[in-house]
Amino acid sequence: MTDARITAVINFVREGSRVADVGADHGYLSIELAASGRAKFVTATEKNLQPLQAARKNISAAGLDNLIDTRHGDGLQVLSAGEVDTICIAGMGGALITKILDESPEVVQSARQLILQPMNASDKVRAWINENGWAVDDEDLAQVAGIIYEIISAVKSSEVTPKKFKRASSPLTKKFLSQRAQKLRRVLDEMSKSPEARTSEKFFATRDALNALQREIDGLT
Ligand SMILES: C[S@@+](CC[C@H](N)C(=O)[O-])C[C@H]1O[C@@H](n2cnc3c(N)ncnc32)[C@H](O)[C@@H]1O
Repeated sequence: MTDARITAVINFVREGSRVADVGADHGYLSIELAASGRAKFVTATEKNLQPLQAARKNISAAGLDNLIDTRHGDGLQVLSAGEVDTICIAGMGGALITKILDESPEVVQSARQLILQPMNASDKVRAWINENGWAVDDEDLAQVAGIIYEIISAVKSSEVTPKKFKRASSPLTKKFLSQRAQKLRRVLDEMSKSPEARTSEKFFATRDALNALQREIDGLT
């Protein structure tokens, strides 16, 4: 069963890709990628046996065993360098996403695109991208049951070409940025209560981040 979040991830996958779906869970992303023909082949990895078995069942029921390989294991560690050109890691926290990428440098290096959908700490994911020779080449937002998710596509920094991000024309952008600004305001309010916190570096960095965010919101039409 796909939803707007999974669809937004799929929309970033290039036609004919060999995709790793890391943390495949029920296998819906893998199934949709293979069924739509967008991916030429999918390798679905899953650390936990129960979701892996569910994914295998769903993949067989969809008649896609010939297009999706399932592997039991941690992150990208069950793949070899060069096996996939696109790595999707969706529905996990930002810290776990960067850990998975850090633990398999050869597999990551051999890919040409990363599609990452962090459930939190997207700043950590962005920092990882910038510090490891990659660059964000597109971004989108998707809303499911009132929650807005960020989807980030990255390519090697030498391959990036300037373009208008999908997110820029998303009707969700204003709501998403306003929610984020609200969170920062709450953090600043809390910090203001302590003399030590309100003179800390973190306080000034958060205030700068809020100001930048507010400028971005004000600049939206
Ligand atoms: C919340 S689900 C997200 C499923 C799917 N990727 C999606 O976006 O809908 C996270 C899945 O990742 C799996 N997982 C967590 N850590 C993992 C790891 N290090 N390697 C592989 N799978 C992992 C969990 O067992 C779970 O099935």
